[in-house]
Amino acid sequence: MAQFKSSTCEIPSARNVPAHIAIIMDGNGRWAKKRLLPRVAGHQRGVKSVRSTIRHCNSLGVDYLTLFAFSSENWRRPKDEVSFLMTLFYSSLAREIEQMHKDNLRFRVIGDISPFDSKLVSLIRDAEELTRDNGGLNLTVAANYGGRWDIMQAVKRMLKERPELAESFSENDLSPYLSMSYAPEPDLFIRTGGEQRISNFLLWQLAYTELYFTDTLWPDFDSTALDLAIRSYQARERRFGRTSEQLPAKNA
Ligand code: FPP
Repeated sequence: MAQFKSSTCEIPSARNVPAHIAIIMDGNGRWAKKRLLPRVAGHQRGVKSVRSTIRHCNSLGVDYLTLFAFSSENWRRPKDEVSFLMTLFYSSLAREIEQMHKDNLRFRVIGDISPFDSKLVSLIRDAEELTRDNGGLNLTVAANYGGRWDIMQAVKRMLKERPELAESFSENDLSPYLSMSYAPEPDLFIRTGGEQRISNFLLWQLAYTELYFTDTLWPDFDSTALDLAIRSYQARERRFGRTSEQLPAKNA
């Protein structure tokens, strides 16, 4: 039996405080443009929101926080911006990892990081190793990640290990090979910056996730903005395909 319930095969439990929040941090460039600053100043400021969101999730009892930092399509951006984002990821992780470890946070990266600079790859692997036994908030950064890539790599790895499944396989056969097999499916997806799309984020895992879109630009996203998103989530009825009448009187 899988560690966590699949939203399509079973009925997952739904807590009042989301167990897993996944975020597309959008709007950094526009935040900077509004202030006549270069786009990268928005990314730099975005790190502050990353820090405050981690802290707030920790204090609320959220178990998993997943942040989309760099998509497989972000390579299409100007070279300078891509290189700035890589440097920012490196410097932020190098600066924060000791504190994250002290806070009992477990850090992971999902995505194909093989094209990244080897220094960044080592830092990521060291940070994952350092925090691997921590039992607090599970922070996942999606870097060079794409939802389609994830499904493809899972199918490839599954068939390599279990070629007999080429004829036929089930969701439960495939799910252990997906990048986030260690986490429940997100309860709440947040996208800042006003766009209303999923942009190739966790395509498989978002099947029954509650979606929340806000015009707030990522550098302005603070604990109050996160509380608003959670309040919106708490007002939703999570039916997972059932009718209202079939739901238990109150979610645990
Ligand atoms: C989207 O805004 C944001 C990104 C592509 C990068 C997100 C990165 C950070 C918040 C900082 C680094 C993260 C970590 C985990 C240390 P955009 O540039 O598309 O904004 P726009 O839509 O206004 O142009």
